[in-house]
Amino acid sequence: MVERYRGKTVVVTGGSTGIGAAFAERFAREGARLLLVARTGAALEALARSLEAKHGATVRTASVDLSTADGPNEVLEAVSALGWRADVLVNNAGFASYGRFDAQPRAQVLGQIALNVQGLVVLTHAFLPQLLERRGQVIHVASTAAFQPVPYLAVYGATKAFVLSFSEALWAENRDRGLDVLALCPGATETPFFERVGAEEASLGARASPESVVDAAMKALAARRSHVIAGLGNYWTAQAARFVSRQAAARLTANLMKPRQAPALPASGARR
Ligand SMILES: NC(=O)c1ccc[n+]([C@@H]2O[C@H](COP(=O)([O-])OP(=O)(O)OC[C@H]3O[C@@H](n4cnc5c(N)ncnc54)[C@H](OP(=O)(O)O)[C@@H]3O)[C@@H](O)[C@H]2O)c1
Repeated sequence: MVERYRGKTVVVTGGSTGIGAAFAERFAREGARLLLVARTGAALEALARSLEAKHGATVRTASVDLSTADGPNEVLEAVSALGWRADVLVNNAGFASYGRFDAQPRAQVLGQIALNVQGLVVLTHAFLPQLLERRGQVIHVASTAAFQPVPYLAVYGATKAFVLSFSEALWAENRDRGLDVLALCPGATETPFFERVGAEEASLGARASPESVVDAAMKALAARRSHVIAGLGNYWTAQAARFVSRQAAARLTANLMKPRQAPALPASGARR
């Protein structure tokens, strides 16, 4: 493996499990030093120590809730406290909430926007000056959910459409300034994501490995692409939405995504 990132500093959000952990592994293998960010400090520390042992990489962690107003600034401060400047920002942390929109607690609805949209935008805004100065790279983890409405994952799908649109705009604004921006659009991937969402049934088709998803991202980044859909099957599924009406795409997706069991009612007292 060529150490293309030797001497580079990489910040990975959601860098404790799943796709984020696979990014951490890949960048450590390619010689980078890393700041891994998530809420659960123990999981971050365990991964950091194993990457240091395996790759001799320098790996630091920051236990931060990126859905809070202060979260993104805490990450910026953690990087400067280390005396580092970021060359690569991987905005990967995200979550979904599954079921009929009106049956979802409002805190969950807004939490997705706070993390998947606001946290990502603010973190990118905070890091952009140093990333531009270092002619760096930004990876935003979107989803194939970005390409059509996703009933029963309505808010999640909308947040990912935002991430794709936002990333492509930043790609065009910054490509002549030496900064690469990539939207990575995975389909179903083998991570704790669906279990956490309580939506195993919303995972359609075979799941890709996080490593294959990261591999697709790294190739697209090297080719300076604005977005990549990981996996050929996912590529064609995403294209299919362009050949039917938007109504048909929404209805077809609703049929595929509809919960087989009635969604649980929110606990009494939950904010609605
Ligand atoms: N798995 C899939 O099928 C799939 C498909 C398409 C796109 N994606 C996207 O890929 C990204 C990574 O998901 P994954 O599949 O790897 O899921 P995952 O294994 O559940 O990982 C999510 C990561 O984000 C962190 N996180 C969650 N909430 C956070 C918060 N408020 N602040 C900071 N960190 C937070 C989690 O750690 P803590 O809980 O400790 O904070 C964890 O490290 C997400 O953006 C997801 O939408 C996933």
